[in-house]
Parts: sequence; structure tokens; C-alpha cells
Amino acid sequence: MCGITGYIGEQQATPVLLEGLKKLEYRGYDSAGIALQTGQGVVVCKEKGRIADLTKMVDLNVQSTAGIGHTRWATHGVPDRKNSHPHQSQSGRFTLVHNGVIENYLQLQRDYLQEVEMISDTDTEVIVQLIEKLSSEEVSTEAAFRKALTLLHGSYAIAMLDEQDPDTLYIAKNRSPLLVGVGADCRVVASDAMAMLQVTDQFIELHDEEMVLLRKDEVKIFTLGGERMERALYTAQLDQSDLEKGTYPHYMLKEMDEQPTVIRKIVDAYSNESGKLSIDSKVLQAFKGADRLYIIAAGTSYHAGLIGKQYFEKFAGIPVEVHISSEFGYNMPLLSKKPLFLFITQSGETADSRQVLVKVKALGYPTVTLTNVQGSTLSRESDHTLLLHAGPEIAVASTKAYVAQVAVLAICAYACGESDLELKKELSIAANAIQTVLDSKEDVRKVVEETLTDTRNAFFIGRNLDFYVSLEGALKLKEISYIQAEGFAGGELKHGTIALIEEGTPVFALATQRDVSPNIRGNVKEVTARGAKTSIFSIEGIQEEGDRFVLPHVHELLTPLVAVIPFQLISYYAALQRECDVDQPRNLAKSVTVE
Ligand code: G6P
Repeated sequence: MCGITGYIGEQQATPVLLEGLKKLEYRGYDSAGIALQTGQGVVVCKEKGRIADLTKMVDLNVQSTAGIGHTRWATHGVPDRKNSHPHQSQSGRFTLVHNGVIENYLQLQRDYLQEVEMISDTDTEVIVQLIEKLSSEEVSTEAAFRKALTLLHGSYAIAMLDEQDPDTLYIAKNRSPLLVGVGADCRVVASDAMAMLQVTDQFIELHDEEMVLLRKDEVKIFTLGGERMERALYTAQLDQSDLEKGTYPHYMLKEMDEQPTVIRKIVDAYSNESGKLSIDSKVLQAFKGADRLYIIAAGTSYHAGLIGKQYFEKFAGIPVEVHISSEFGYNMPLLSKKPLFLFITQSGETADSRQVLVKVKALGYPTVTLTNVQGSTLSRESDHTLLLHAGPEIAVASTKAYVAQVAVLAICAYACGESDLELKKELSIAANAIQTVLDSKEDVRKVVEETLTDTRNAFFIGRNLDFYVSLEGALKLKEISYIQAEGFAGGELKHGTIALIEEGTPVFALATQRDVSPNIRGNVKEVTARGAKTSIFSIEGIQEEGDRFVLPHVHELLTPLVAVIPFQLISYYAALQRECDVDQPRNLAKSVTVE
């Protein structure tokens, strides 16, 4: 949610900043801008739109070896030029980019900035105006910067230029991700290491409530209390080629196609020396020591959590509750005596999930994070991390991370129990089955042409595990094609939602669960009788004549891994048909760092 880049070194800053912003576009893409120290002042270029639009506007003749950049997901104020970052102080001396939310910005404005005419509607502008105001009272920019930070309530990742100090970037972080990178002839800053792999793979983690003075050959980290901190470098384990689309038209298509490989990688990563599926012994102890597991997640990760509940209950006999993270904070259930909190988060940065982590840590409860991003905020702050090994997921709509989450949850639950299921073999069958479905893309494209061409809504129904996959199918379709879609438990339809079924309403039904297959087929008949255009997605072994798509057979508990694939493809082709931006759908961002 908003991406920040910063560069100070020997090379021209503009190409590095723009290239970095392109890599961060998944974090927000409604407006973008850069600011450059030129020696004769700071030049700002910003506009509503994507990085590609900004790139066309930027004057490459401006010579500069220090600058900052920003790509925005609007929180305060509509996406337009005036609200785009970087923001400048009244005199133009200070220029700043920010990711996060300043909760007390109106109060700060009233207390310190009554005489300042605000240009934008953002909370960010208050920070830069406040720093200018304090700079007249403090001995240095460093002191004014520190003082301003101590007055802020909320989350921030900040990079700032001072026109009068062209050799320094002023950096700060609290509850929003930000890393410093160390290159051969430069120092950089970015919301995500992938933005700066172009210049270095050596990074330094920043902690909350820290500020940094960044010079081309120096990184000085301080607490807000002024204490100097030393911190070692780490090497970012990212491969530049993972970040490219290659010959694919969209990241989403590439990432869907990677799913069989992801399952195989997970099986490898979670196999011990004797070839058996296992998890780290400390994590295992944490699971086994719990009398109840609380899964906390948002969006697609929440849908994976619902499936994980069945795995932990069936394989390991551990009772599980699954909670939407944004609700949990103010609606905490009565907890068991020995709870364990499992956070499922692709990005490891979701603010809604993190606020729960902070609360339960304060209560002293053990925590595990299941994430795709090692070193992400939730990974660092929880007691244990389990990795997804899915490789970077760039498309906003999550596909391979979901499949990875389901697979790792199955492995964890399996490792905690004593099941005679040959999970390793079953996962490899599932990987092959996913490949078979991916090879049938044309067939799924036809389903989209037959059912979704003129529709304004669609329903996904299923029972048992199929219900959870229906929720995910509906979310995917909404996210990228903007067709209003709902996922329903087959049995619930008749309790209200069936009123929405009209002539031609598309209904996609999953029938992969043997016990309830007759029931879901009954629901299909009910909606067909009321005019719905129905498509049944069943599985080998329980298919019936007329089913629109038959998935290859996999173990019944692993059907979510395979059943989700046609739904991902449906949303992809529906988005293409409607000429939507598949990878960067409107109003969304991949990493949601505001609550
Ligand atoms: C955003 C993304 C979703 C994602 C959700 C949770 O809304 O657009 O795709 O499922 O955040 O993200 P997380 O990184 O915590 O899994």
C-alpha cells in the first residue's frame, strides 16, 4: 500500500527510482512521483496515473544523483496531482514521500500549522509542513525530523530531501515496511527489496520508531530517542528473473501456470532427510502444545485458513477457529487456556493481521506466521515463521500463494498428527492434476464466453470444502473483472439469495465432495428451474453426464488445490473479455498496510 524508493550515490537517480517504482506498483498505482536533488534545488515531477505515465513525463536531462520516489494507493484525498507524493513544505525546502496513515494529522495541523496553507488533502503534507515549522526551532534538520517523528501517531515509512543538505536522505519507519540497501557506490531505500535488486542484494532491516541518515557511503540508524544502532546486512534471496513476466502477457497468467511447480517445491522444502514430510521441530512443539488454534487472516488468505481448519481438525485433532483479522481486534472471542495464533499472510505486511499480532503478543500468546515473504513484518514479529516457497507474487489477485497456503497448511496439520494418508504422494498427484486443468485453458475460456459475456453478477456455490473454494472463486471474479459475485454454501441459497436468480444468471457449482454431491446437484436443479445458467465443476469418480468440467481425481481433502484453478481461469478470462487491467485491478493493492 504505497511504495517508496530512494537513491543517493554516484549514478543518475532517475532511472533507478523509476525502475524501483515499477517493481513496487503492486503496492498501489493511482498516482506516482519523484523528487530529485539537482544542486540548484529540488525538482518534483508527479501526476495521477501509473509509473508508465510518470516515466513519459520525467525530464531525463535533469542531472541528479539523489532522489526519492513514490507510487500511491490513496487513503486521504482523491488520486490527483495535488494529492500525489512527493509533498513539499511551504517554502519548498523539504520534500517528502510517505506510506502509512498519520492518525493525529488534524490535531497536529491545529496545534502547529494554523498559519500554513495546506495544498493537498493528505495526512502526509502535515508531516513535511511540521518538519519545516520545527526546523526554525531546532538546531538541525536531523533534530527537527526527530522531533516531528515523536509527534506522529500512526504508521509511516518516510523518505525526505532537504534542499539545503543535498548529501543526505532522511528516512524513518514505524509499522510500515522500509529497508535500506547498500550498493557498491550508493545507498538506497525501498518498501520492498525487489525494487532495488537492480543495484544491490545487500539490505539492512529497519525497526519501528527508527530514523536513518542515508549518505552515498554511509547508513546511520538511530532510535527516536537518539541512540545510535548498528545492524548487520543480509542478502535478499530473490531472483531478478522471478520478478519478470517473460513472454507472458500478465503476471497472473504466469503465476497460475507456476502452481504445479510451487506444490513440488513445497513438498521438497518440507521433506526431511529421510524424505518424510515434516516441519521445524519448534513449530511442531508450538502446534502440539496448543489446545486450540486461532487462524487470523484476510482476503484470499482467510479462505485458505478455512480449509486449514479442516486439516488441523481432521489430521491432528486440534480444534481451530478461523477469524477475519480486521474483526478480531475489537471482537476477540473467549480464548482457550493454551491458544496458538497462526497468521496466514502472503505479503506478511497486512496491517489488519498485524494489529492482531501486536495484541496477542502483548497478552503473551505464542504466534506462528505462514507467509511468502521471509523477513516481512509479521514474519519478524511472530515467534515462528513457516514459508510458502511460492516465489514473488506480483499480480494483485492471489493465485499461487493461495495454493501454496493450502498445501503448507495440509503439511503442517499432517505433521502434527498421525494420519495413514500418503500426503506426499497425494500432493504430487494434486500438482499433476493442477497441470491438467491448466492445460485446458481453452475450455475454461469457452465457459466464460457462454456464461459471463453480458452478465452483471454471478454465483459460486459448493458444500463442505467446496464452499470455501466458492468463496475464493467469487473473490477472484470480483477483484479482476468487477462482476458482482458471491460465494455461497449450497444449502444457504434458498434462505434468501435465491431471490436474486433470474433468467440467465450464471451459477458455478462445485461438486468434488462425494457425501454432499447429491445435495449440491439438488441446489443446481433449484436454480436451473428459476432460469440460472448453471455450470457444474465435478471431479473424476463422481462426475455425471452434463457436468461442464470434470477435474482429474485427487484425494478428497486436497480438492481445494485443484478446484480453485478453473475459477482462477474464469476470472482471468472474464477480466480479459471486459478489457480490465488483470494485474492491477482498480482500487486494490497487493500489500494492504493500512487498517
Ligand atoms: C489484499 C490483496 C488480497 C489478499 C489480502 C490479504 O486485499 O489484494 O489478494 O488476499 O490483501 O493479503 P495477505 O498478504 O495478508 O495474504
